[in-house]
Amino acid sequence: MDAIRSRAPWIFEPSPGAGDGSGTSVATDAVFPSVVAPFPASRRLEPDLRARLTALFLEGQEIWNRFETEVRQKEWHPFIHGNYERILDALLAQMALGSEGPSAPRRFLEWGSATGVVTIMADMLGFDAYGIELDADLVEVARRLAERHDSQARFAAGSFLPEGYRWRPPDGDGRSGTLGDGRSAYPELGHGLDTFDLVYGYPWDGEAALMTDLMERSGGPGARLLMHGGAGKIRIFERGRP
Ligand SMILES: C[S@@+](CC[C@H](N)C(=O)[O-])C[C@H]1O[C@@H](n2cnc3c(N)ncnc32)[C@H](O)[C@@H]1O
Repeated sequence: MDAIRSRAPWIFEPSPGAGDGSGTSVATDAVFPSVVAPFPASRRLEPDLRARLTALFLEGQEIWNRFETEVRQKEWHPFIHGNYERILDALLAQMALGSEGPSAPRRFLEWGSATGVVTIMADMLGFDAYGIELDADLVEVARRLAERHDSQARFAAGSFLPEGYRWRPPDGDGRSGTLGDGRSAYPELGHGLDTFDLVYGYPWDGEAALMTDLMERSGGPGARLLMHGGAGKIRIFERGRP
């Protein structure tokens, strides 16, 4: 796996523990065991990085506002954005978890990366960061956003479902909600799903089980999945090691 490109650019102050009401939760109904992540109740980023992230989030919000008016109000579209500050906290917590050892997450993938804000954020934090998005127009938006913010985040147009993957839940209802069909994007990325240490997704209702199943079946050993939920809660799962 690629090494993190820069030294950890933040100062981490240990938190009193998980579940402090600050946004990261740990699911108990997961298909595979969840990870209790220490949550950085207070953390300070280097001022330059904090300013870059703020500028990115603001522009992401502006793009979303335009998208909402110009696209979503005319025709339904599955893109809604996550809570960027909560996602930032969750990424920092993951980095702090493994910062001293070989388990430090290095390669990041966003499933359904839309305008690319989360993938670009991960790149700014030092991850080798990739995003997959089905809507090719949004992929173009993400690439231009990355350029404007001097980010090396990479994006591929297509589906985050690997070729041949089928969702087969125990109740037999294999509909995949709002998730669209398309050519799998992993060949274009040049990296299989099992090579990513950290994967992030924002499922619509009913899609979370598919995401955990996909991670369990095709993710790398020990890889983690961050799933955005309602009210900005981020659930964290770790795939088992054989
Ligand atoms: C709820 S939005 C999440 C946006 C972004 N990840 C975030 O958290 O701000 C889901 C995104 O997934 C995309 N999408 C839907 N099905 C997909 C698929 N099979 N492969 C890749 N992207 C998909 C949608 O177009 C949409 O942009």
